[in-house]
Amino acid sequence: MKPEEELPFATLTGSLKDFRAPADRELLRRAEGFFAWQDRRRQHGLWPYARSTESAPSTSCQVRNDDGQIFQGTNFASQDYLSLSSHPRIKEAAIAAVERYGVHSAGSAALLGNTANSLALERALSQFLDDREIVLYPTGWSAGFAAVQGFVRSHDHVVMDVLAHSCLQEGARAATGSVHHFAHLSTDALRRRLQRIREKDARGGILVVTESLFSMHSDVPDFAAVRAACDDHGATLLIDCAHDFGCMGPDGRGNLAAAGLLDAADILIGSFSKSFASNGGFIAVKSRAGAEYLKYYSATQTFSNALSPAQAAVVLTALDIVRSDEGTILRNRLMANILHLRHAVERTGLHALGSPSPIVPVFVGGEALGRLIARRLPGSGGLANLVEYPAVPKSESRFRFQVMAGHTADDVERMIAALDEAVKAGRADLERLGLSAAAPAVGTGAEELDPA
Ligand SMILES: Cc1ncc(COP(=O)(O)O)c(C=O)c1O
Repeated sequence: MKPEEELPFATLTGSLKDFRAPADRELLRRAEGFFAWQDRRRQHGLWPYARSTESAPSTSCQVRNDDGQIFQGTNFASQDYLSLSSHPRIKEAAIAAVERYGVHSAGSAALLGNTANSLALERALSQFLDDREIVLYPTGWSAGFAAVQGFVRSHDHVVMDVLAHSCLQEGARAATGSVHHFAHLSTDALRRRLQRIREKDARGGILVVTESLFSMHSDVPDFAAVRAACDDHGATLLIDCAHDFGCMGPDGRGNLAAAGLLDAADILIGSFSKSFASNGGFIAVKSRAGAEYLKYYSATQTFSNALSPAQAAVVLTALDIVRSDEGTILRNRLMANILHLRHAVERTGLHALGSPSPIVPVFVGGEALGRLIARRLPGSGGLANLVEYPAVPKSESRFRFQVMAGHTADDVERMIAALDEAVKAGRADLERLGLSAAAPAVGTGAEELDPA
Protein backbone atom coordinates (compact mmCIF):
# COMPACT_ATOMS: atom_id res chain seq x y z
CA MET A 1 0.00 0.00 0.00
CA LYS A 2 1.44 3.38 -0.98
CA PRO A 3 1.74 5.98 1.79
CA GLU A 4 -1.28 8.23 2.05
CA GLU A 5 0.85 11.33 1.31
CA GLU A 6 1.06 10.02 -2.27
CA LEU A 7 -2.69 9.59 -2.74
CA PRO A 8 -3.89 11.72 -5.66
CA PHE A 9 -6.95 13.81 -4.80
CA ALA A 10 -8.91 12.07 -7.59
CA THR A 11 -8.73 8.75 -5.73
CA LEU A 12 -10.70 10.26 -2.85
CA THR A 13 -13.19 12.14 -4.99
CA GLY A 14 -15.63 11.34 -7.78
CA SER A 15 -18.23 8.58 -7.80
CA LEU A 16 -19.56 5.91 -10.14
CA LYS A 17 -22.32 8.36 -11.03
CA ASP A 18 -19.83 10.68 -12.76
CA PHE A 19 -19.23 8.07 -15.44
CA ARG A 20 -22.76 6.76 -15.98
CA ALA A 21 -23.51 8.83 -19.09
CA PRO A 22 -20.25 9.91 -20.75
CA ALA A 23 -20.55 11.64 -24.10
CA ASP A 24 -18.59 9.87 -26.83
CA ARG A 25 -19.79 8.53 -30.14
CA GLU A 26 -17.62 5.45 -29.67
CA LEU A 27 -19.57 3.38 -27.16
CA LEU A 28 -16.66 1.36 -25.82
CA ARG A 29 -14.35 4.38 -25.57
CA ARG A 30 -16.84 5.78 -23.07
CA ALA A 31 -15.54 3.28 -20.53
CA GLU A 32 -12.05 4.74 -20.52
CA GLY A 33 -12.72 7.72 -18.24
CA PHE A 34 -14.27 5.39 -15.69
CA PHE A 35 -11.40 2.95 -15.94
CA ALA A 36 -8.76 5.66 -15.45
CA TRP A 37 -10.51 6.79 -12.24
CA GLN A 38 -11.15 3.26 -10.99
CA ASP A 39 -7.65 2.02 -11.75
CA ARG A 40 -6.07 4.95 -9.95
CA ARG A 41 -8.12 4.04 -6.91
CA ARG A 42 -7.10 0.38 -7.32
CA GLN A 43 -3.40 1.24 -7.53
CA HIS A 44 -3.63 3.11 -4.24
CA GLY A 45 -5.53 0.38 -2.37
CA LEU A 46 -8.75 2.39 -2.56
CA TRP A 47 -10.92 0.06 -4.65
CA PRO A 48 -12.56 -2.24 -2.06
CA TYR A 49 -14.85 -3.96 -4.58
CA ALA A 50 -14.69 -7.10 -6.73
CA ARG A 51 -12.76 -9.06 -4.12
CA SER A 52 -12.87 -12.86 -4.34
CA THR A 53 -12.99 -15.53 -1.66
CA GLU A 54 -10.18 -18.09 -1.50
CA SER A 55 -12.06 -20.15 1.09
CA ALA A 56 -15.74 -20.75 1.94
CA PRO A 57 -17.54 -17.50 2.82
CA SER A 58 -17.57 -18.42 6.52
CA THR A 59 -17.11 -16.32 9.60
CA SER A 60 -13.36 -16.19 8.95
CA CYS A 61 -12.41 -16.00 5.32
CA GLN A 62 -9.40 -15.70 3.02
CA VAL A 63 -9.94 -13.04 0.40
CA ARG A 64 -8.09 -11.79 -2.67
CA ASN A 65 -8.29 -8.08 -3.40
CA ASP A 66 -9.02 -6.78 -6.88
CA ASP A 67 -5.31 -5.86 -7.04
CA GLY A 68 -4.28 -9.48 -6.25
CA GLN A 69 -3.30 -9.10 -2.56
CA ILE A 70 -4.49 -11.90 -0.27
CA PHE A 71 -5.58 -11.44 3.32
CA GLN A 72 -7.46 -13.30 6.05
CA GLY A 73 -10.12 -11.63 8.16
CA THR A 74 -13.15 -11.94 10.38
CA ASN A 75 -15.89 -11.94 7.81
CA PHE A 76 -18.91 -9.64 8.04
CA ALA A 77 -19.09 -9.14 4.28
CA SER A 78 -20.87 -12.31 3.10
CA GLN A 79 -24.61 -12.87 2.69
CA ASP A 80 -25.11 -16.15 4.47
CA TYR A 81 -27.31 -15.04 7.33
CA LEU A 82 -28.12 -18.50 8.71
CA SER A 83 -24.61 -19.86 7.98
CA LEU A 84 -26.09 -22.56 5.77
CA SER A 85 -23.65 -22.35 2.85
CA SER A 86 -21.32 -24.94 4.42
CA HIS A 87 -23.93 -26.80 6.47
CA PRO A 88 -23.32 -30.59 6.15
CA ARG A 89 -26.93 -31.36 5.14
CA ILE A 90 -26.85 -28.68 2.45
CA LYS A 91 -23.58 -29.96 1.01
CA GLU A 92 -24.92 -33.54 1.01
CA ALA A 93 -28.09 -32.41 -0.79
CA ALA A 94 -26.07 -30.64 -3.47
CA ILE A 95 -23.79 -33.64 -4.00
CA ALA A 96 -26.73 -36.08 -4.15
CA ALA A 97 -28.51 -33.85 -6.68
CA VAL A 98 -25.42 -33.67 -8.88
CA GLU A 99 -25.00 -37.46 -8.70
CA ARG A 100 -28.62 -38.06 -9.69
CA TYR A 101 -29.42 -35.25 -12.14
CA GLY A 102 -26.06 -33.89 -13.34
CA VAL A 103 -25.20 -30.21 -12.96
CA HIS A 104 -27.51 -28.39 -15.32
CA SER A 105 -31.23 -27.78 -15.82
CA ALA A 106 -30.49 -27.49 -19.54
CA GLY A 107 -33.53 -25.43 -20.39
CA SER A 108 -35.81 -22.56 -19.50
CA ALA A 109 -38.75 -23.48 -17.26
CA ALA A 110 -41.08 -23.40 -20.27
CA LEU A 111 -38.85 -25.68 -22.33
CA LEU A 112 -37.94 -28.68 -20.14
CA GLY A 113 -35.83 -26.75 -17.61
CA ASN A 114 -38.09 -27.67 -14.67
CA THR A 115 -36.74 -30.57 -12.64
CA ALA A 116 -38.16 -32.88 -9.99
CA ASN A 117 -36.29 -30.73 -7.46
CA SER A 118 -37.63 -27.39 -8.73
CA LEU A 119 -41.21 -28.75 -8.60
CA ALA A 120 -40.64 -30.00 -5.04
CA LEU A 121 -39.25 -26.57 -4.12
CA GLU A 122 -42.31 -24.81 -5.57
CA ARG A 123 -44.60 -27.04 -3.50
CA ALA A 124 -42.62 -26.56 -0.28
CA LEU A 125 -42.41 -22.77 -0.69
CA SER A 126 -46.10 -22.59 -1.46
CA GLN A 127 -46.90 -24.47 1.75
CA PHE A 128 -44.59 -22.14 3.74
CA LEU A 129 -46.29 -19.07 2.25
CA ASP A 130 -49.94 -19.83 2.97
CA ASP A 131 -50.57 -21.67 -0.33
CA ARG A 132 -49.46 -18.85 -2.59
CA GLU A 133 -48.54 -19.82 -6.14
CA ILE A 134 -44.76 -19.83 -6.65
CA VAL A 135 -42.73 -18.99 -9.76
CA LEU A 136 -38.99 -19.65 -9.52
CA TYR A 137 -36.27 -17.48 -11.11
CA PRO A 138 -32.55 -18.02 -11.70
CA THR A 139 -31.64 -15.10 -9.39
CA GLY A 140 -33.38 -12.82 -6.94
CA TRP A 141 -32.58 -9.88 -9.23
CA SER A 142 -34.39 -11.52 -12.14
CA ALA A 143 -37.41 -12.23 -9.91
CA GLY A 144 -37.61 -8.56 -8.85
CA PHE A 145 -37.26 -7.35 -12.42
CA ALA A 146 -39.87 -9.87 -13.59
CA ALA A 147 -42.43 -9.01 -10.93
CA VAL A 148 -42.62 -5.45 -12.28
CA GLN A 149 -41.96 -6.02 -15.98
CA GLY A 150 -44.25 -9.06 -16.08
CA PHE A 151 -47.38 -7.27 -14.87
CA VAL A 152 -46.95 -3.57 -15.72
CA ARG A 153 -47.62 -2.22 -19.22
CA SER A 154 -46.84 1.16 -20.82
CA HIS A 155 -50.21 2.70 -19.89
CA ASP A 156 -49.73 1.74 -16.20
CA HIS A 157 -47.90 3.51 -13.38
CA VAL A 158 -45.25 2.35 -10.94
CA VAL A 159 -44.92 4.18 -7.63
CA MET A 160 -41.84 3.12 -5.69
CA ASP A 161 -39.89 3.92 -2.56
CA VAL A 162 -36.93 5.91 -3.80
CA LEU A 163 -34.54 3.34 -2.28
CA ALA A 164 -36.14 0.26 -3.84
CA HIS A 165 -33.56 -2.20 -5.17
CA SER A 166 -32.06 -1.89 -8.65
CA CYS A 167 -33.97 -4.97 -9.93
CA LEU A 168 -37.26 -3.23 -9.15
CA GLN A 169 -36.14 0.11 -10.57
CA GLU A 170 -34.91 -1.50 -13.79
CA GLY A 171 -38.09 -3.57 -14.09
CA ALA A 172 -40.15 -0.39 -13.77
CA ARG A 173 -38.04 1.45 -16.36
CA ALA A 174 -38.44 -1.46 -18.77
CA ALA A 175 -42.21 -1.58 -18.28
CA THR A 176 -43.46 2.01 -18.44
CA GLY A 177 -42.46 5.66 -18.77
CA SER A 178 -44.72 6.46 -15.82
CA VAL A 179 -42.39 5.70 -12.90
CA HIS A 180 -42.76 7.78 -9.72
CA HIS A 181 -40.71 7.77 -6.54
CA PHE A 182 -41.80 8.65 -3.04
CA ALA A 183 -39.53 9.69 -0.17
CA HIS A 184 -38.07 6.69 1.65
CA LEU A 185 -40.67 5.10 3.95
CA SER A 186 -43.02 8.12 3.70
CA THR A 187 -46.61 6.90 3.48
CA ASP A 188 -47.79 10.52 3.28
CA ALA A 189 -45.67 11.06 0.17
CA LEU A 190 -46.96 7.78 -1.26
CA ARG A 191 -50.58 8.85 -0.69
CA ARG A 192 -50.00 12.26 -2.29
CA ARG A 193 -48.47 10.62 -5.34
CA LEU A 194 -51.28 8.06 -5.67
CA GLN A 195 -53.88 10.79 -5.39
CA ARG A 196 -52.23 12.88 -8.13
CA ILE A 197 -52.06 9.87 -10.44
CA ARG A 198 -55.69 8.92 -9.82
CA GLU A 199 -56.87 12.51 -10.43
CA LYS A 200 -55.54 12.23 -13.97
CA ASP A 201 -55.99 8.53 -14.66
CA ALA A 202 -58.86 6.66 -13.09
CA ARG A 203 -58.40 3.49 -15.15
CA GLY A 204 -54.68 2.72 -15.44
CA GLY A 205 -53.04 0.09 -13.27
CA ILE A 206 -50.81 1.27 -10.42
CA LEU A 207 -48.11 -0.92 -8.87
CA VAL A 208 -46.74 0.26 -5.53
CA VAL A 209 -43.28 -1.14 -4.81
CA THR A 210 -41.47 -1.37 -1.50
CA GLU A 211 -39.29 -3.76 0.54
CA SER A 212 -39.81 -5.52 3.84
CA LEU A 213 -36.21 -4.73 4.87
CA PHE A 214 -34.12 -2.11 3.07
CA SER A 215 -30.69 -3.43 2.32
CA MET A 216 -28.56 -0.31 2.84
CA HIS A 217 -30.52 1.28 5.72
CA SER A 218 -31.89 -1.74 7.60
CA ASP A 219 -35.29 -0.11 8.02
CA VAL A 220 -38.85 -1.29 7.47
CA PRO A 221 -41.99 0.39 6.12
CA ASP A 222 -45.32 0.68 7.92
CA PHE A 223 -46.92 -2.22 6.05
CA ALA A 224 -50.48 -1.57 7.23
CA ALA A 225 -50.32 2.10 6.17
CA VAL A 226 -48.88 1.20 2.75
CA ARG A 227 -51.62 -1.41 2.25
CA ALA A 228 -54.32 1.09 3.24
CA ALA A 229 -52.93 3.65 0.76
CA CYS A 230 -53.07 1.02 -2.00
CA ASP A 231 -56.64 0.06 -1.10
CA ASP A 232 -57.78 3.68 -1.13
CA HIS A 233 -56.41 4.24 -4.64
CA GLY A 234 -56.97 0.89 -6.34
CA ALA A 235 -53.27 0.02 -6.45
CA THR A 236 -51.52 -3.37 -6.38
CA LEU A 237 -48.77 -3.88 -3.77
CA LEU A 238 -45.42 -5.57 -4.44
CA ILE A 239 -43.07 -6.22 -1.53
CA ASP A 240 -39.48 -7.46 -1.90
CA CYS A 241 -38.53 -9.64 1.09
CA ALA A 242 -35.03 -10.60 -0.12
CA HIS A 243 -33.21 -9.82 3.12
CA ASP A 244 -35.65 -10.87 5.85
CA PHE A 245 -37.29 -13.98 4.39
CA GLY A 246 -35.89 -17.06 6.15
CA CYS A 247 -33.95 -15.22 8.82
CA MET A 248 -36.39 -12.82 10.51
CA GLY A 249 -39.65 -13.34 12.33
CA PRO A 250 -40.34 -16.13 14.81
CA ASP A 251 -41.09 -18.70 12.09
CA GLY A 252 -38.62 -17.39 9.50
CA ARG A 253 -41.29 -15.97 7.22
CA GLY A 254 -39.89 -12.47 7.51
CA ASN A 255 -40.98 -9.06 8.76
CA LEU A 256 -44.37 -9.12 7.03
CA ALA A 257 -45.39 -12.39 8.69
CA ALA A 258 -43.96 -11.16 12.01
CA ALA A 259 -46.36 -8.20 11.72
CA GLY A 260 -49.22 -10.58 10.90
CA LEU A 261 -49.46 -9.00 7.44
CA LEU A 262 -48.10 -11.58 5.03
CA ASP A 263 -51.38 -11.38 3.17
CA ALA A 264 -50.96 -7.61 2.64
CA ALA A 265 -48.62 -8.05 -0.34
CA ASP A 266 -50.36 -8.88 -3.59
CA ILE A 267 -47.00 -9.82 -5.06
CA LEU A 268 -44.13 -11.05 -2.91
CA ILE A 269 -40.63 -11.45 -4.29
CA GLY A 270 -37.73 -13.10 -2.57
CA SER A 271 -34.15 -14.19 -3.03
CA PHE A 272 -32.44 -17.41 -1.96
CA SER A 273 -29.04 -15.77 -1.85
CA LYS A 274 -29.20 -14.38 1.69
CA SER A 275 -30.68 -17.12 3.89
CA PHE A 276 -31.03 -20.15 1.60
CA ALA A 277 -27.41 -20.70 0.53
CA SER A 278 -27.95 -20.47 -3.22
CA ASN A 279 -28.48 -18.22 -6.18
CA GLY A 280 -32.13 -18.02 -7.16
CA GLY A 281 -35.34 -16.20 -6.37
CA PHE A 282 -39.10 -16.46 -6.47
CA ILE A 283 -42.33 -14.58 -6.97
CA ALA A 284 -45.32 -15.58 -4.82
CA VAL A 285 -48.78 -14.50 -5.96
CA LYS A 286 -52.25 -15.37 -4.81
CA SER A 287 -53.71 -16.91 -7.96
CA ARG A 288 -52.74 -19.67 -10.34
CA ALA A 289 -53.63 -17.28 -13.19
CA GLY A 290 -51.05 -14.74 -11.93
CA ALA A 291 -48.33 -17.39 -11.72
CA GLU A 292 -49.09 -18.87 -15.15
CA TYR A 293 -49.09 -15.38 -16.67
CA LEU A 294 -45.63 -14.67 -15.26
CA LYS A 295 -44.30 -17.91 -16.76
CA TYR A 296 -44.99 -16.64 -20.28
CA TYR A 297 -44.86 -12.84 -19.94
CA SER A 298 -41.92 -12.14 -17.59
CA ALA A 299 -38.81 -12.27 -19.72
CA THR A 300 -36.35 -13.50 -17.11
CA GLN A 301 -38.49 -16.61 -16.49
CA THR A 302 -39.56 -17.29 -20.06
CA PHE A 303 -36.22 -16.70 -21.76
CA SER A 304 -33.64 -17.71 -19.15
CA ASN A 305 -32.51 -21.18 -18.10
CA ALA A 306 -34.02 -22.45 -14.87
CA LEU A 307 -32.36 -23.11 -11.50
CA SER A 308 -30.03 -26.10 -11.65
CA PRO A 309 -31.15 -29.32 -9.89
CA ALA A 310 -28.41 -28.80 -7.28
CA GLN A 311 -29.52 -25.21 -6.57
CA ALA A 312 -33.11 -26.36 -6.16
CA ALA A 313 -32.00 -29.19 -3.83
CA VAL A 314 -29.93 -26.74 -1.75
CA VAL A 315 -32.83 -24.32 -1.34
CA LEU A 316 -35.26 -27.15 -0.56
CA THR A 317 -32.95 -28.42 2.20
CA ALA A 318 -32.34 -24.88 3.47
CA LEU A 319 -36.10 -24.33 3.64
CA ASP A 320 -36.46 -27.55 5.62
CA ILE A 321 -33.88 -26.22 8.11
CA VAL A 322 -35.50 -22.76 8.20
CA ARG A 323 -38.83 -24.37 9.18
CA SER A 324 -37.34 -26.69 11.80
CA ASP A 325 -36.34 -26.20 15.44
CA GLU A 326 -32.78 -25.79 14.16
CA GLY A 327 -34.00 -22.82 12.12
CA THR A 328 -35.39 -21.20 15.26
CA ILE A 329 -32.09 -21.76 17.08
CA LEU A 330 -30.14 -20.26 14.15
CA ARG A 331 -32.41 -17.19 14.02
CA ASN A 332 -32.03 -16.71 17.78
CA ARG A 333 -28.23 -16.93 17.48
CA LEU A 334 -28.30 -14.53 14.56
CA MET A 335 -30.36 -11.98 16.52
CA ALA A 336 -28.04 -12.29 19.55
CA ASN A 337 -25.08 -11.54 17.26
CA ILE A 338 -26.90 -8.62 15.63
CA LEU A 339 -27.68 -7.04 19.00
CA HIS A 340 -24.13 -7.63 20.23
CA LEU A 341 -22.64 -6.04 17.11
CA ARG A 342 -24.95 -3.01 17.20
CA HIS A 343 -24.15 -2.45 20.87
CA ALA A 344 -20.40 -2.83 20.27
CA VAL A 345 -20.52 -0.35 17.35
CA GLU A 346 -22.08 2.29 19.60
CA ARG A 347 -19.36 1.59 22.19
CA THR A 348 -16.73 2.76 19.69
CA GLY A 349 -18.58 6.06 19.21
CA LEU A 350 -19.90 5.12 15.76
CA HIS A 351 -23.58 4.77 14.95
CA ALA A 352 -25.47 1.70 13.68
CA LEU A 353 -28.33 2.82 11.43
CA GLY A 354 -31.83 1.34 11.17
CA SER A 355 -33.37 -1.39 13.28
CA PRO A 356 -31.90 -4.77 14.26
CA SER A 357 -31.56 -7.09 11.26
CA PRO A 358 -28.73 -9.12 9.68
CA ILE A 359 -27.71 -5.87 7.96
CA VAL A 360 -25.90 -3.51 10.30
CA PRO A 361 -25.06 -0.29 8.43
CA VAL A 362 -22.44 1.74 10.26
CA PHE A 363 -22.27 5.40 9.31
CA VAL A 364 -18.78 6.85 8.78
CA GLY A 365 -19.33 10.15 6.93
CA GLY A 366 -17.79 11.56 3.75
CA GLU A 367 -16.65 9.41 0.83
CA ALA A 368 -12.95 10.22 1.34
CA LEU A 369 -12.99 9.02 4.94
CA GLY A 370 -14.98 5.91 4.00
CA ARG A 371 -12.40 4.98 1.37
CA LEU A 372 -9.46 5.57 3.71
CA ILE A 373 -11.03 3.39 6.41
CA ALA A 374 -11.85 0.66 3.88
CA ARG A 375 -8.19 0.74 2.81
CA ARG A 376 -7.11 0.09 6.40
CA LEU A 377 -9.74 -2.46 7.46
CA PRO A 378 -8.28 -5.67 5.95
CA GLY A 379 -4.87 -4.90 7.50
CA SER A 380 -6.64 -4.71 10.84
CA GLY A 381 -8.17 -8.16 10.24
CA GLY A 382 -11.76 -7.20 9.38
CA LEU A 383 -13.92 -7.79 6.32
CA ALA A 384 -16.95 -5.55 5.70
CA ASN A 385 -18.26 -3.87 2.56
CA LEU A 386 -17.99 -0.13 2.05
CA VAL A 387 -21.10 1.42 0.54
CA GLU A 388 -20.66 4.86 -0.97
CA TYR A 389 -22.58 7.32 -3.12
CA PRO A 390 -24.61 6.77 -5.31
CA ALA A 391 -25.66 3.51 -3.58
CA VAL A 392 -26.35 5.70 -0.50
CA PRO A 393 -26.89 9.48 -0.24
CA LYS A 394 -23.90 11.82 -0.67
CA SER A 395 -21.60 12.07 2.36
CA GLU A 396 -23.37 9.14 4.02
CA SER A 397 -20.76 6.47 3.40
CA ARG A 398 -21.17 3.46 5.57
CA PHE A 399 -19.89 -0.02 6.15
CA ARG A 400 -22.51 -2.69 5.68
CA PHE A 401 -21.87 -5.47 8.17
CA GLN A 402 -23.74 -8.66 7.35
CA VAL A 403 -24.17 -10.87 10.35
CA MET A 404 -24.31 -14.67 10.37
CA ALA A 405 -25.76 -17.14 12.86
CA GLY A 406 -22.34 -18.81 12.95
CA HIS A 407 -20.49 -15.75 14.25
CA THR A 408 -19.28 -16.04 17.83
CA ALA A 409 -19.09 -13.30 20.45
CA ASP A 410 -15.30 -13.32 19.86
CA ASP A 411 -15.86 -12.72 16.12
CA VAL A 412 -17.96 -9.67 16.95
CA GLU A 413 -15.32 -8.31 19.32
CA ARG A 414 -12.53 -9.00 16.79
CA MET A 415 -14.48 -7.18 14.07
CA ILE A 416 -15.11 -4.20 16.31
CA ALA A 417 -11.44 -4.00 17.33
CA ALA A 418 -10.50 -4.08 13.63
CA LEU A 419 -13.05 -1.40 12.79
CA ASP A 420 -11.91 0.82 15.65
CA GLU A 421 -8.27 0.53 14.58
CA ALA A 422 -9.11 1.18 10.90
CA VAL A 423 -11.30 4.18 11.73
CA LYS A 424 -8.53 5.76 13.83
CA ALA A 425 -5.95 5.13 11.11
CA GLY A 426 -8.30 6.40 8.38
CA ARG A 427 -9.04 9.58 10.32
CA ALA A 428 -5.32 10.17 10.84
CA ASP A 429 -4.72 9.64 7.09
CA LEU A 430 -7.45 12.16 6.33
CA GLU A 431 -5.95 14.72 8.68
CA ARG A 432 -2.50 14.31 7.14
CA LEU A 433 -4.08 14.94 3.76
CA GLY A 434 -5.71 18.11 5.12
CA LEU A 435 -9.26 16.96 4.32
CA SER A 436 -12.33 17.22 6.50
CA ALA A 437 -14.18 14.15 7.80
CA ALA A 438 -17.50 15.30 6.36
CA ALA A 439 -15.99 16.25 2.99
CA PRO A 440 -18.52 15.33 0.36
CA ALA A 441 -15.64 14.69 -2.04
CA VAL A 442 -18.09 13.66 -4.71
CA GLY A 443 -18.20 14.84 -8.29
CA THR A 444 -15.18 17.08 -7.90
CA GLY A 445 -12.35 14.81 -8.94
CA ALA A 446 -13.17 14.03 -12.55
CA GLU A 447 -11.31 17.10 -13.79
CA GLU A 448 -8.08 15.63 -12.41
CA LEU A 449 -8.37 12.62 -14.64
CA ASP A 450 -6.83 12.19 -18.05
CA PRO A 451 -9.32 9.84 -19.66
CA ALA A 452 -7.30 9.27 -22.83
C1 LIG B 1 -33.73 -5.97 -1.91
C2 LIG B 1 -33.07 -6.89 -2.88
N1 LIG B 1 -33.81 -7.46 -3.85
C3 LIG B 1 -33.27 -8.29 -4.74
C4 LIG B 1 -31.93 -8.60 -4.71
C5 LIG B 1 -31.34 -9.51 -5.75
O1 LIG B 1 -31.12 -10.77 -5.24
P1 LIG B 1 -29.96 -11.72 -5.79
O2 LIG B 1 -28.66 -11.14 -5.33
O3 LIG B 1 -30.28 -13.01 -5.13
O4 LIG B 1 -30.06 -11.76 -7.26
C6 LIG B 1 -31.12 -8.06 -3.73
C7 LIG B 1 -29.70 -8.41 -3.71
O5 LIG B 1 -28.83 -8.08 -3.16
C8 LIG B 1 -31.69 -7.16 -2.80
O6 LIG B 1 -30.95 -6.57 -1.88
